[in-house]
Amino acid sequence: MVIDELKNNCIPRHVAVIMDGNGRWAEIHGNDRIFGHTQGVDAVRSIVEGAGEIGVEYLTLYAFSTENWDRPKEEVNALMSLLVNSIVQETDNLNEKNVKMLAIGDLYSLPVDVQSKLREAIQITSSNTGLNLVLALSYSGRWEIIEAVKKIVNKIQSGEINENKINESVFTSHLSTVGIPDPELLIRTSGEYRISNFLLWQIAYSEFYFTPILWPDFRKENLFEAIADFQRRERRFGKTSEQIRS
Ligand code: IPE
Ligand code: IPE
Ligand code: MG
Repeated sequence: MVIDELKNNCIPRHVAVIMDGNGRWAEIHGNDRIFGHTQGVDAVRSIVEGAGEIGVEYLTLYAFSTENWDRPKEEVNALMSLLVNSIVQETDNLNEKNVKMLAIGDLYSLPVDVQSKLREAIQITSSNTGLNLVLALSYSGRWEIIEAVKKIVNKIQSGEINENKINESVFTSHLSTVGIPDPELLIRTSGEYRISNFLLWQIAYSEFYFTPILWPDFRKENLFEAIADFQRRERRFGKTSEQIRS
């Protein structure tokens, strides 16, 4: 797949990725799981570059789920260190590429050094106008939906919102993805066919693309392939094919 084969007028604005398979990749290569996570950073670098090149506006990467806190302590600690190191190491590069960094999730649950480096990177890249790179950290769709419900209930109680005025757009504006369009395309690597509590509300009409490639092997060419596949689909949104074509 080469970049020139993509239709420029049909690039998804928002691509979301469940980066899965680091542990299995490490096992195949006779190494420990942590090594797999470390190798996954190259894949991130490659697709951030690729997404920028073709004009994707938002790239959301599922880097750590609410449920991932239940992994062995050493793995969680290693993931957190990798996160801090990668953020520190990559910020200049992201800045040069005009990438704006954002984060969604229960960020206060992250170790304080991760929080502060993250905040720093977000601040440094805040005026960039290229790709928006959204890191989902300590994130889960259900967590986010509950948080939105709590915010809305508070506003109803204080009289700021009338309960009869609650609709999809009011609800959407209380999610951590406020202002970000829903992903047109959701990619999951490693051959698993599940959502694992990612962007539950936002993927209502996303196209799914599953690939057996393990995350550390994923590169921008694979992203372009996924987008080419997306471009061959007909998105009907409940309508008939005839309606869409006319
Ligand atoms: C994805 O790879 C990274 C995170 C969930 C943090 P995994 O660590 O889940 O790798 P597998 O699925 O065990 O191979
Ligand atoms: C999903 O991968 C979370 C991330 C990629 C960060 P998991 O490996 O945690 O998902 P399950 O548990 O296999 O569904
Ligand atoms: Mg996994």
